[in-house]
Amino acid sequence: MSASSTADHAYKASDLVADDIEAYLHQHEHKSLLRFLTCGSVDDGKSTLIGRLLYDSKMIFEDQLAALEADSKRVGTQGGDIDFALLVDGLAAEREQGITIDVAYRFFSTDKRKFIVADTPGHEQYTRNMVTGASTADAAIILIDARKGVLTQTRRHSYLVSLLGIRHVVLAINKMDLVGWSQEVFDTILAEYHDFAAQIGIKAFTAIPMSALKGDNITEPSDKAPWYTGPPLMRWLENAPIEDDLQAKPFRMPVQWVNRPNLDFRGFSGQVASGVIKPGDKVKALPSGRESTVDRIVTLRGDLPEAVAGQSVTITLTDEIDVSRGDVLSVADQPPEVADQFESTIVWFDDEPLLPGRPYLLKLGTRTVSAQVAEPKYKVNVNTLEHLAATRLELNEIGVANLSLAAPIAFDPYMENKDLGGFILIDRLSNRTVGAGMLHFALRRSQNIHWQATDVSKAARSAAKGQKARVVWFTGLSGSGKSTIANMLEKRLAAEGRHTYLLDGDNVRHGLNRDLGFTDEDRVENIRRVAEVSKLMVDAGLIVLVSFISPFRAERQMARELLGEREFVEVFVDTPLAEAERRDVKGLYKKARAGELKNFTGIDSPYEAPENAEIRIDTTQLTPEQAAEQIFAWLDGAFDPGI
Ligand code: ADX
Repeated sequence: MSASSTADHAYKASDLVADDIEAYLHQHEHKSLLRFLTCGSVDDGKSTLIGRLLYDSKMIFEDQLAALEADSKRVGTQGGDIDFALLVDGLAAEREQGITIDVAYRFFSTDKRKFIVADTPGHEQYTRNMVTGASTADAAIILIDARKGVLTQTRRHSYLVSLLGIRHVVLAINKMDLVGWSQEVFDTILAEYHDFAAQIGIKAFTAIPMSALKGDNITEPSDKAPWYTGPPLMRWLENAPIEDDLQAKPFRMPVQWVNRPNLDFRGFSGQVASGVIKPGDKVKALPSGRESTVDRIVTLRGDLPEAVAGQSVTITLTDEIDVSRGDVLSVADQPPEVADQFESTIVWFDDEPLLPGRPYLLKLGTRTVSAQVAEPKYKVNVNTLEHLAATRLELNEIGVANLSLAAPIAFDPYMENKDLGGFILIDRLSNRTVGAGMLHFALRRSQNIHWQATDVSKAARSAAKGQKARVVWFTGLSGSGKSTIANMLEKRLAAEGRHTYLLDGDNVRHGLNRDLGFTDEDRVENIRRVAEVSKLMVDAGLIVLVSFISPFRAERQMARELLGEREFVEVFVDTPLAEAERRDVKGLYKKARAGELKNFTGIDSPYEAPENAEIRIDTTQLTPEQAAEQIFAWLDGAFDPGI
C-alpha cells in the first residue's frame, strides 16, 4: 500500500518548511490551483475520499489528527480504525445525521499543485449546492459505489457537470475492495457510464478503480488491481489541465461599484472576469456602448501595469463616460452582446415551482434585473434524456426556456464565458435563490424589434378625455363582491363623464384568456395578460377597472410595477372565506367542497391577501353602494386635479 511513500512525499514539503521557509512559500505561491468538485450519492464515500486526500497530503494538523482518532473510536463506522468521513463531515449536526448537508470547500496541496475541493451533498434535494459548488470548478470527480453501479444520481450529477461546462471528469469507482477488485465489475460500470456520458456531451473521462477507505489508487498505484494501468487519483488531479485559459479570452469586468471618493477621482471597481487590460487600452462600457481609454489601474497596493482575470481592481478612464454598477467594461473591439431576450437552460431548486410569466430577479455578473421565463420548451428526464413537455419546472428539474428581461444586459454565451453567461434567479418576495441557469444565445427577434414612437402621447390622450388615466385593481376571493362593486364604481364614474373600461375576470376568460384554466401557472398568465391589456388601456387614456381574483402577491406586484406607482390603485375586497362561501352566488363553493371543482381559490388553491393595498373594503360592514362611493371619493381626493 501507499502509506509510507505518501509520507515520504509529504515530508519533502515539511523539510523545506523547516529548512527554508522562504523557499517553501515561494514554491507554494507559484503552484497552479485546481478547483474540483466531488459528487455522488449518499454513502458513495465522498467524505471518506476527501478525508483521505487531505490525510495523504498531510493537510491534517496534529491536533486534528488526535481528535479524529478519538472521534473514530467514539462514533466512527470503521471499528476503531480512522473514519476519514468524520474529518470532512465536520459539523456536529452532520455527524449525527450521517449525511453531508452543505457545500464545504477544502484546501490541500501537494508538491506540484494546490487544490480547492467543493464537497457537494449527494441527496436529490440539494441540486442547488451542486450547482453552486460546480460553477467555478475545473474538474469533477463523480463517485460510484462499485457495488451499486450507475445510479439516477450519478446521471443527474453527470448531466449537471456537463451542463455547467466542466470538461475534465474522473469516474471514481470506489469501494473496489468490497467487490474483490473485480475487473469485470469495473468494466461493466465503465461501459454503462461510457454510453451515458457520450449522450450528454462528456467527451472524455478517466475511470479509476479505488478504495478511498484503504487508500488504494489514491496517491500511489495500487497492487490490488494489476489490470489497471492508469494513474492514481492524486496524479490525475496534479496533471489535469486547468480549465479555460481565462486570460486568453477578451477582457471583461462587471462593475461592482463606482468608486468616487472625491470630485477628482472616478474609478470603476470590480473583479476582472476574463482577459488582460492595460493603461492605454480602448474599452467599451455596456450596455451603453460608449467607448473610452483606460487611464490607470488602481489597487490598494498602488497602480498596476496590467490587470488579469481574477484580480480585483479599480479602473479609471480618460473620458467622463457614464458607467454604473452592473455595467460591463469590455475590450472595445470584442465586446459582449447586449440583449433582453434569450434562450437558456434553467436548473430549478426551490420547493415552489417556477411559474412561467412570474417576474423573478435575474442576477448575472453584478447586474440584477427583473426577468420572466416563458413556458419551457421542454424539461429533461435525466435518466432517459428524453425531452418532456412542461408548463412549469419543479424542484430539481432542468429545462430549456426563453427568458425576457425588463432591461437589456451585456452577456456572453455561457459556454464561452461562465461569468457573463451564468445567472441565478431570485424570488422577489422571499429573496430566496430559486434557480440557476446558463444563457445560450440572444433571441434574434428581440434585436429586430424596435420601439416605434407615436406622435400622440399617453398624456395627450388622457388630456383629451379630461382625466388622469389609471388602473383600479380589485382583488379578493371569488364571490367577495369585486365585480358588483367595480360595476357600481364604473357607473358612478360614467355618470361623471369619465371614460372607463371594466375588465372582469369571468368576461376576459370568455375571449382573450379562454385558453387558460385555474392552475397556478394559468393564473399567472391570466394576470400577466390582463396587466398588459390594462397598461395599453391606460396608455389610451382610460380609467381601467380590473376585477380578477388575482390571488398571488407576486403578480399583483408585477402589475403595479408595469403601470407605475401613481397609476395603480389596489383595492382589496376583504370578504372572509366563510362569508363568501355562505353567499355562494354562483354555487361554485358547493361544487368545490364536493370535489367537483379543482384548484378553487380559498379551498384547494391559495389566496394571498394584500399587505399594502391602497384601499381595503370590508364587505361585512359596507353595502356595495357605500364601497363604490368610498373608492370614488378616494380617487377624487387622491390625485390633483381629481379623477
Ligand atoms: S384568477 O385567479 O385567475 O384571477 P379570475 O378572476 O380570472 O381568477 O376568474 C375567477 C372566476 O372564475 C371566479 O369568479 C369564478 O366565477 C370562476 N372560477 C371557475 N373555476 C374557478 C376556480 N377553480 N377558482 C377560482 N375561480 C373559478
